[in-house]
Amino acid sequence: MHGAKRGVFISFEGVEGSGKTTQAQALADWLQKSRIPYIFVRDPGTTKIGEKIREILLDKEYREMHAKCEVLLFLAARSQVTYEKILPALREKKVVVTDRFSDSTFAYQCYGRQLPRRLISIFNRFAAAGIKPDLTFLVDIDATRRMERGKFNDRMETEAEGYHQNVRQGYRALAARSKKRFKILDGEKTVDVIHDEVIHLVKELLKRKGCKI
Ligand SMILES: Nc1ncnc2c1ncn2[C@@H]1O[C@H](COP(=O)(O)OP(=O)(O)O)[C@@H](O)[C@H]1O
Ligand SMILES: [Mg+2]
Repeated sequence: MHGAKRGVFISFEGVEGSGKTTQAQALADWLQKSRIPYIFVRDPGTTKIGEKIREILLDKEYREMHAKCEVLLFLAARSQVTYEKILPALREKKVVVTDRFSDSTFAYQCYGRQLPRRLISIFNRFAAAGIKPDLTFLVDIDATRRMERGKFNDRMETEAEGYHQNVRQGYRALAARSKKRFKILDGEKTVDVIHDEVIHLVKELLKRKGCKI
């Protein structure tokens, strides 16, 4: 990215089955085609350590996992991907696309599991080195509609439906508080229609940041 001081950081958020990964991957493909240097990460995951932590987090064997253990594992994985992948890429002026980031912790652990927001806010800043996405896409879908989209099997996905409703409301509350950073996408539109909206908004952002596309 010529002219920009650092890279551009874009996150995708939403409940399971909303279409985050589909859209994040489609954006990554577009960046590739457009020859814009980028990295695509998922949180938790991507790093060797993060993928191990992800396995533990999603394993249905660990139903006994305490909410505090859960949040600390998510944050541990996030700090690793932040320092190992995201910060270096931003320094190299790349576009970073992430499938989930700190907003997930607010939505899932504060709204879903009722952990105190003040504490999570401090933990999140600590784990993510104080960085925030420049643009966050919230793929919004009714928690019952997402169930029509396939099998949901892991420890988080198989939580009670009320929990997922709280998470969705949590995301909407977050988006309402940070209107500039968040863009809400209607997850019930077709994949292509949503992708076009994503590209439109990303092009605008890249231009603002001085990237010639
Ligand atoms: N806009 C859409 N309309 C219909 N189905 C979709 C849409 N986006 C994604 N899907 C399908 O829904 C399922 C979940 O999508 P995925 O991107 O994995 O969601 P997430 O990463 O948010 O859990 C996949 O089978 C995917 O093909
Ligand atoms: Mg996904």
